Amino acid sequence: MKIMAICLLLLLSAAVANAEGGPSLERGKALFENDKLGSNGKSCATCHPGGKRLEWAATFEESRLANIVNKCIEQSLKGKPLDPVSDDMRSLLMYLKSFAGPGY
Ligand code: HEC
Repeated sequence: MKIMAICLLLLLSAAVANAEGGPSLERGKALFENDKLGSNGKSCATCHPGGKRLEWAATFEESRLANIVNKCIEQSLKGKPLDPVSDDMRSLLMYLKSFAGPGY
């Protein structure tokens, strides 16, 4: 009976986490391509179309990459930096890593 209750709790919390979205590649792509991260109508894709200049990003340490991303958000998009461990930042990093060239 106890185990049943624990299983039910786990299922429920998984459902809640799902409802909130969580980090995902799709979310990262959307953030990369729309202008919501900034205030000047630009998006990451304006300057990095198709991942231009980001081929090396996947080789950086994640905390360093998050810093660079926040610099681009602040300076290039005139936006507010993201919390490095937020779902939005984690999604963005996930998407950046998908640009890695072969062999990295
Ligand atoms: C106004 C143009 C512009 C916008 C908009 C922009 N960037 Fe950049 N970004 C640059 C430039 C210029 C560099 C420096 C390129 C270099 O030094 O090779 C750079 C560098 C980077 C790097 C480091 C790449 C490397 O290999 O050193 C990352 C990662 C990055 N940008 C991510 C982003 C993300 C994510 C966004 C959206 C939140 C974004 N950028 C928006 C212009 C921009």
